[in-house]
Amino acid sequence: MKDQTLLKAARAARTRAYAPYSGFLVGAALLTEDNRIVTGGNIENASYGLTVCAERVAIWNAVHAGHRKFTKIAVATDSVPPASPCGACRQVLWELGGNIEVIMGNLSGEQIKMPLIELLAKPFGEACWEANPVDDQLLAGEETWRLPFTANPIGYVISDYPEPQKIPDHYRELLSKIIVDPEFEEGLYRLDEEKEIIVISHLHKAKGYTLKEQRSGRGHEVYGVFACRAPLRPNALAQSIAKLVAIEKNVLTVRGLDLINGTPVIDLKTVIPLNQD
Ligand code: THU
Repeated sequence: MKDQTLLKAARAARTRAYAPYSGFLVGAALLTEDNRIVTGGNIENASYGLTVCAERVAIWNAVHAGHRKFTKIAVATDSVPPASPCGACRQVLWELGGNIEVIMGNLSGEQIKMPLIELLAKPFGEACWEANPVDDQLLAGEETWRLPFTANPIGYVISDYPEPQKIPDHYRELLSKIIVDPEFEEGLYRLDEEKEIIVISHLHKAKGYTLKEQRSGRGHEVYGVFACRAPLRPNALAQSIAKLVAIEKNVLTVRGLDLINGTPVIDLKTVIPLNQD
């Protein structure tokens, strides 16, 4: 994965920082060995010393999500020159990540990159995580299926609908675009052979859910959430089918998508019709 892509994720993560005391927002994006991004932002506290930096939020987040091997971390700030990780973060990154690349960037495009060992010349301790791979710690019979997982969106939707209520009844006839992150463009190879595609997306504006209620799209009758397409569901995921109109590089033009402007796209798949019998 390109440094730029990781830095963009760090800049996005910075928007979720909680820094009301310093006003200094930091975002961090960690790349796992299997090319997944896990992010963090600094989280401050009224008892100032309890503040945790973005880098530690990111790596703790990643380790808890089951990742144990990392290749690089990007740190985004709005400072000149770009800020580098504090001593405590260097130590934590070293223990959990080893000698990863550290990319430091700011909002005006300045970028510095160096291996962690250059920032932490004489680290304390030894990497201990290799001796404790996460799988060995999983006990048979534990309900590991309950563990949440993270998704890395591959792109986003551009549509004329700013909110769900603005999606017109005749949306099936209307055009939208799907912008795929150039990082994933190669994955679109031969998608142009399809007439229709399945779009899996994150309904990022949906908050909370109900399991059973009157559903407006179903004649105001009561249906369970799994018996309808309501956006307020335990996982705010949507599956839409759209007609493929054109593909130009990383930009797809589609017809009939029912997603609001800015919806993160999680995946694209082909449609396999069920055998009619
Ligand atoms: N901070 C980080 O998140 N990462 C660093 O590498 C340096 C400092 C945060 C901590 C605090 O919320 C704010 O920046 C000011 O120190």
